[in-house]
Amino acid sequence: MKQQLESLRTAALDALQGVDGLQDLEALRVKFLGRKGELTEILRGLATLSAEERPAMGQLANEVKEALSDAIDGKKAVLDAAASAERARAEAVDMSLPGRRVPEGHLHVITQVTEEIVGIFKQLGFQVATGPDIETEYYNFDVLNTPADHPARDSHDTFFVKPGHVLRTHTSPVQMRVMEQVQPPVAVVAPGRVYRVDYDATHSPMFFQIEGLLVDEGVTFADLKGTLMHFIHRFFGPDIQVRFRPHFFPFTEPSAEVDILWTAKDRHTGETKSRWLEILGCGMVHPEVFRHANYDYEKYSGFAFGMGLDRIAMVRHGINNIHLMYENDLRFLNQF
Ligand code: DAH
Repeated sequence: MKQQLESLRTAALDALQGVDGLQDLEALRVKFLGRKGELTEILRGLATLSAEERPAMGQLANEVKEALSDAIDGKKAVLDAAASAERARAEAVDMSLPGRRVPEGHLHVITQVTEEIVGIFKQLGFQVATGPDIETEYYNFDVLNTPADHPARDSHDTFFVKPGHVLRTHTSPVQMRVMEQVQPPVAVVAPGRVYRVDYDATHSPMFFQIEGLLVDEGVTFADLKGTLMHFIHRFFGPDIQVRFRPHFFPFTEPSAEVDILWTAKDRHTGETKSRWLEILGCGMVHPEVFRHANYDYEKYSGFAFGMGLDRIAMVRHGINNIHLMYENDLRFLNQF
């Protein structure tokens, strides 16, 4: 038995030399030290030994077992270290490689124009106000002195949502929402989406407007004109020609439309042409509007204006189709 044990040790240690994988190592352990392995097999012979021989053989068997276990554990440590070194090599990151660029977006052209215009009015002391897109007929029409038989209330222009509610057709209802909350002096601009049943190259069912309202004691048409001239010169440049043209709006009296003389190069002929372009509506707040706001119209006066932001963006950038701005085509959007 002693010989058997010694040759088992030699055979196992020899075999261990040739092992170079963790699976082979485990197979070797099972072969020699497993419950049904060769060592167990030899130990069966212990029963046939005399009581004097047995302890010495038992001890030797333990030594062999421990020696082999240690050798196998040692080998396992070597193989584990090699495997993790290999993994580290395979997963290595080259820190010196340049990073991948994340495509970067930017503000939409209408947002850019809106922010620029709001910025100009903010510098004059105007604050920004907002109102809901789904508006009551009361705010969208009634309080703005637009009687029920006014053409603007025709279902032809207006999206009706449910009885008494419309998608606001202009930002003017924000005027009343502000006046209900605060007493004069008031100076606000209100940019936002508006909706009309309309569709062609220059009209979209959803578009953007910005509203302005200023109320205080002693406000005159000269204040309106001065304020708007300041804005137009800041936005379109000091040389732009401007004209105020009498107009009618139910919620202002007197009212005007403002045109600028816009000069652009014809894309086909290269010829420079100028034409008057309407850019906004404005006027002195109608006493009837103040009456709805519970403002004392003997004491206060004010002016209001509204302009189409899409139109302004189109003029500024020479865009000839409003729908380009809503198609999200990056070839278009990236130009701004
Ligand atoms: N709400 C008008 C529109 O949508 C624009 C407008 C005109 C607004 C005159 C005003 C104003 O505040 O005073 O066509």
